[in-house]
Amino acid sequence: MHDTPSAFPDFGLTPEQRRFAVRGCYYEHPGMDGERGEIWCYTDRLSYAPGESVALHVSSTASSFGIEVTRDGGVETQVLTRQNLAARWQDTLDHCSVEGCGWQASFEFRVEESWPSGAYRITLTAEGRDGDPIRCHHLFIVRPLPTRKQRRILQVAATGTWLAYNTWGGSNAYDGITGPNRNEYARMVSTQRPWGRGFVVLPPDAPRVPLEVSMPPKTVPRYPHMEWAFATGHSKKYASAGWASYDSHFFRWAERAGYAIDLASQHDLHFTPEILDGYDCVVFVGHDEYWTWEMRDAVDAYVELGGHAARFAGNFMWQTRLEDEGRRQVCYKYRARAEDPAYRGGDATRATNSWEAPEIGRPGALTFGLNSTKGVYAGWGGCAPRGMRGFPVYRPEHWAFAGTGLFYGDLLGADSHVYGYEVDGLDYEIRNGRPYPTAASGAPAGLEILAMGMASQVEEADFLRPEDQFFGDEDGRFIAETLYGDASDENLEKVRYSNGMIVNFPNGKGEVFHAGSCEWVAGLLRRDAMVERVTANVLDRYLGRK
Ligand SMILES: [Fe+2]
Repeated sequence: MHDTPSAFPDFGLTPEQRRFAVRGCYYEHPGMDGERGEIWCYTDRLSYAPGESVALHVSSTASSFGIEVTRDGGVETQVLTRQNLAARWQDTLDHCSVEGCGWQASFEFRVEESWPSGAYRITLTAEGRDGDPIRCHHLFIVRPLPTRKQRRILQVAATGTWLAYNTWGGSNAYDGITGPNRNEYARMVSTQRPWGRGFVVLPPDAPRVPLEVSMPPKTVPRYPHMEWAFATGHSKKYASAGWASYDSHFFRWAERAGYAIDLASQHDLHFTPEILDGYDCVVFVGHDEYWTWEMRDAVDAYVELGGHAARFAGNFMWQTRLEDEGRRQVCYKYRARAEDPAYRGGDATRATNSWEAPEIGRPGALTFGLNSTKGVYAGWGGCAPRGMRGFPVYRPEHWAFAGTGLFYGDLLGADSHVYGYEVDGLDYEIRNGRPYPTAASGAPAGLEILAMGMASQVEEADFLRPEDQFFGDEDGRFIAETLYGDASDENLEKVRYSNGMIVNFPNGKGEVFHAGSCEWVAGLLRRDAMVERVTANVLDRYLGRK
């Protein structure tokens, strides 16, 4: 991977299209494929226990469709096919991203007891008006059985982040058609809608967010993932969240490496925290940005009683609330202090703001050792587009690095580019060439910093025009205001530069390992032997294999 190209890939877009691909709000919606026709679907829930029934809600221009359900693990296993099921076009609420599509259920099927826990891909196929096939994909999770947990890993899929980034229907937690001028992001998103295109399956050449380009002097960074998304009809956010870009790579790798692994949703963690009981190791991976108070309670209690949590993920940023039995995820984000009812007579500790907002009083570091407000961007846009691709190693003697032969100052995972595109960090100081959390950092007692790279909250460069920037200093100003009360220039300087870390610490009778980077899974996807070895060291120790 060292022979990186010196020009950005080109997907055949005009400059105007390229600009719209990055700045524009485009999304999946009924009618988007015009004359050809469409088929769309969603399930009534994110996850099911064996024996439960899946209600599939389908809307299609075709009058019949076929279904195929495949378990997407270390190997692909088809578990169900049916043909000639009846379909019809169903009206969709305008603000379906927020309120749900409101379609009637079209078909039900049972999750058999013989279907192992994991992710199940639904593929629907029908005939388009031009005679060519039309298709859609969806995904549901089969929860583990309440028995058989010892020596097994439970992976908790980052479904909160999938929901926040889901572009289907027009609004997500980033941009959308909410508000009087139809130009605001959604403060609430619904589970009752299809996933954006590319959240369930992706072709192997779909770009990841971190740049794989060796940029000549004064290059203005581009955004290949969004350009590819626009050029190929995928979700603008496919590379930011979803099973296909993130969670799948860990799950498949673990099964192929011989680990016994189960899968649950974050909703399961929220509503049935006892799902963790009995597991030797619980794993969180990828882009994992949205959590509820209850989910954190579940993990904290599990670890304090002797559990092992391994997080290979980045961006532990926002508190959410779940409403309507989990069908609605609430996050006011940047507008929380102005709009969230939690600030007006509600319980401010449950405000849907950054975990480090002082009124919440529960920094992310208390659960996973790191804070998003001390980390964030690396390896794309105006945030270190030529930056470090791996984690700089500071404590090579740590058990997590056993058998790697890593040296102090080496970059772990540089070949596979595991560092970025959002990372979590901590306030630190250097003593004798090694980082330690500062007394004010809020780090749990006994936390060790094993590796640490640079990150930033603000895009900067004197030659970058505002229209060349993706988020400029907006995020930095927001974090400055959240942490310090106002978004002054002085406070912006306190948050401008930050870091991303690998840390390890005890908590109660248990232990936490945290490689705070979204892209850790790229090391498993690309079969980086160093990243595989460190991952296996963590899992083997936590499973009691060594
Ligand atoms: Fe994020």
